[in-house]
Amino acid sequence: MTAATEPLLLATAVRKAYGPTAALDGADLTIRAGEVVAVMGPSGSGKSTLLHCLAGIVRPDSGEIQYRGRELSAMSDGERSALRRSDFGFVFQFGQLVPELTCLENVAMPLRLSGTKRRPAERQAAEWLERLEVADISGKRPGEISGGQGQRVAVARALVGDPRVVFADEPTGALDSFNGERVMRLLTDAANDTGAAVVLVTHEARVAAYSDREIVVRDGKSRDTERVS
Ligand SMILES: Nc1ncnc2c1ncn2[C@@H]1O[C@H](COP(=O)(O)OP(=O)(O)OP(=O)(O)O)[C@@H](O)[C@H]1O
Ligand SMILES: [Mg+2]
Repeated sequence: MTAATEPLLLATAVRKAYGPTAALDGADLTIRAGEVVAVMGPSGSGKSTLLHCLAGIVRPDSGEIQYRGRELSAMSDGERSALRRSDFGFVFQFGQLVPELTCLENVAMPLRLSGTKRRPAERQAAEWLERLEVADISGKRPGEISGGQGQRVAVARALVGDPRVVFADEPTGALDSFNGERVMRLLTDAANDTGAAVVLVTHEARVAAYSDREIVVRDGKSRDTERVS
């Protein structure tokens, strides 16, 4: 196996229960660099839980998740947060921007957390807000902007640190089809330009059409088309 095709992320038999609810009940998948993978499935099937486990935000009850050959559960909390900061970008499904910070400061935050000085961090943040066509709201706080604008700010924040894996949980859910396509083009460009992998949850076939393949989650079990075909 060459370095280019080695999996970035490899999940095996991942289980996570919330009380009596099995949110994930044996999920398997492989994600490689440069891939855009759509995670689809009914509401409540475990898609967000799967993304949170893959990104090291939620710790599974059992199963393995390896990132570039390293088992996430074997890392300390500190190592896992450092990894999230350096290698992952995340667009959350709900309430993700820090309400006290301006949009510009929100987008600059991942860079600031990894030690970039304020000026260069804000310069890069401004470029991403420009790319997402929300430069005009950079000085506003999240409470003063629309849901769709907030979603684009969140996408800018996920991409600003040049991550190796972008996790996006319904990143176009609050957008009209024109802006949804813009966001999808930016995500797929990131995958093409930087070799990042993009793992995105969507309900929309139109959005999934941008992906290289689909992973279907049903009752907490995932079916990965790479493994089936
Ligand atoms: N923090 C939590 N505490 C308790 N139950 C939870 C929690 N998070 C998720 N669940 C439950 O786990 C199951 C999977 O939830 P999850 O959010 O992963 O679904 P989803 O596929 O993302 O759904 P949607 O498409 O509606 O966003 C659901 O039954 C949900 O109610
Ligand atoms: Mg969800």
